[in-house]
Amino acid sequence: MRNILITGGAGFIGSHVVRLFLEIFKNDKVINLDALTYAGNLENLRDIENHPNYLFVHQDISDLENLRQLFKKYEISHVVHLAAESHVDRSIEEPLEFVNTNVIGTVNLLQAAKEYWVDNFDDKLFYHVSTDEVYGSLSDTGFFDEDTAYDPRSPYSASKASSDHFVRAYYHTYGLPIIISNCSKSVGKTFVHVPIDSLFNELA
Ligand SMILES: NC(=O)c1ccc[n+]([C@@H]2O[C@H](COP(=O)([O-])OP(=O)(O)OC[C@H]3O[C@@H](n4cnc5c(N)ncnc54)[C@H](O)[C@@H]3O)[C@@H](O)[C@H]2O)c1
Repeated sequence: MRNILITGGAGFIGSHVVRLFLEIFKNDKVINLDALTYAGNLENLRDIENHPNYLFVHQDISDLENLRQLFKKYEISHVVHLAAESHVDRSIEEPLEFVNTNVIGTVNLLQAAKEYWVDNFDDKLFYHVSTDEVYGSLSDTGFFDEDTAYDPRSPYSASKASSDHFVRAYYHTYGLPIIISNCSKSVGKTFVHVPIDSLFNELA
């Protein structure tokens, strides 16, 4: 049994990821960590709240000590990191909140994972859900790929770009097993599949 920590699982994308994981990975435990900001809503998950393989933890990723305890307590083996301040307009009003959650919160999670997994990265994964907005604005006909230079234009995209750099740094410096998804705007029926396809492939 894998113990999969999903952060931001009460949010728009995360709530569907939690539900899909419980459906597809029947032998795994899903621990949903969410601070329940204005964007989080447990009503999204009412139908599965009593699922035997599901647990909700009301916690903020800006608190490193609590994350350390959580990794130990639930023996976390995989992280799917979606928790974020995610709205560009809000980032223009409150940029520091975006630094706190998207940058410091991500580094806290990386650090907690590194410390807990330090002796053995086998069968571990830190899957970081980022955004294509780190690449800046697209012209009418162009497209981004993994080699496109980072060029964030808002406090939101700058904070996500910064978090991507830290995730890569933990791979290059400590060998932490990571995947970064720079998915596009996620709406309608495709919203889970765009960012999460590679994750399902990885875990299947
Ligand atoms: N929605 C999109 O179109 C889209 C596109 C590309 C990338 N993304 C990325 O996907 C992820 C999820 O996006 P979403 O649209 O579901 O976001 P959302 O705003 O709907 O949900 C974010 C969740 O994170 C939680 N959260 C916020 N701050 C937290 C903190 N400090 N500690 C713990 N939990 C916290 C919120 O309570 C909420 O449940 C984000 O990382 C976002 O950058 C989203």
